[in-house]
Amino acid sequence: MTSERPKYVNYEKKDNIAIITLNRPEKLNALSRELLVDLREVLESASRDPEVRVIVITGAGKAFCAGADVVEFTKSLVEIREFIDLGRRVFDFLESLEKPVIAVVHGFALGGGFELALACDLIIAAEGSQLGSPEINLGIIPGWGGTQKLLITMGPYKAREIIMLGDRISAEEALKLGIVNRVVPADKVVEEALLIAKKLAEKSPLALSAAKSVLNKSLRIMMSIGLEIERDTFIATASSEDAKEGIKAFLEKRKPQWRGK
Ligand code: COA
Repeated sequence: MTSERPKYVNYEKKDNIAIITLNRPEKLNALSRELLVDLREVLESASRDPEVRVIVITGAGKAFCAGADVVEFTKSLVEIREFIDLGRRVFDFLESLEKPVIAVVHGFALGGGFELALACDLIIAAEGSQLGSPEINLGIIPGWGGTQKLLITMGPYKAREIIMLGDRISAEEALKLGIVNRVVPADKVVEEALLIAKKLAEKSPLALSAAKSVLNKSLRIMMSIGLEIERDTFIATASSEDAKEGIKAFLEKRKPQWRGK
């Protein structure tokens, strides 16, 4: 790996644990096209490296990840479609890895950032962190598997609340809902994730990969039709006037004026 690349993601190894840090703190690690490409590259490195047994994903600065970079949604419909498909491929790749992946959430895990955490095998969250799917407030919907995973994890009623109201939920509530595995004080969150990673690294890699594969393949079968519906509906919604207005309003730091078109 050269010193200039990857630019938006840091990669380090501690014993047999790979630590991937999303590194675009000035934009709360919002997932731009470039960041997604970098993430894919380091995930491939970690996957190929025989010394790496467990992968930990965290974020630099005050957030894990505030979602897809909304600037991507101001581009042409072709580019939006490419961007959504790029994100899906990166998340699919993450879920298909043989090695377990732990998300370390602090600050915010919202929208695509929440979906990134949900694509990991375990989520360890810092006290006070906030998760959720606020896309509705931008005039769009989740597009990287969020609708399906929330539906399966918590049932339609709570999933509707999270997706249709778009309110942020606390790490503590997420723990109760079964989305987050542990909530620990912010200064202990990496330590806790590394402890769990070490525990996982002591298991048979073969059995771990088998367990992950059974769970993720089964989940994928349950979600397969829903994921297609989600993608098509996302693209249709993202091309609406309301989506353009919602995203413009966010970038201009004002309230959107919905027109229902
Ligand atoms: N895409 C692009 N830029 C984003 C972003 C996103 N999803 N989330 C945050 N940013 C940018 C902000 O525009 C801001 O940039 P600026 O300094 O050039 O104005 C910077 O990151 C810091 O964010 P800011 O909103 O000033 O921080 P905050 O602490 O006041 O609020 C959040 C934090 C997470 C509540 C707020 O940033 C937010 O609501 N982000 C969008 C979350 C979202 O809707 N995600 C789904 C996207 S599909």
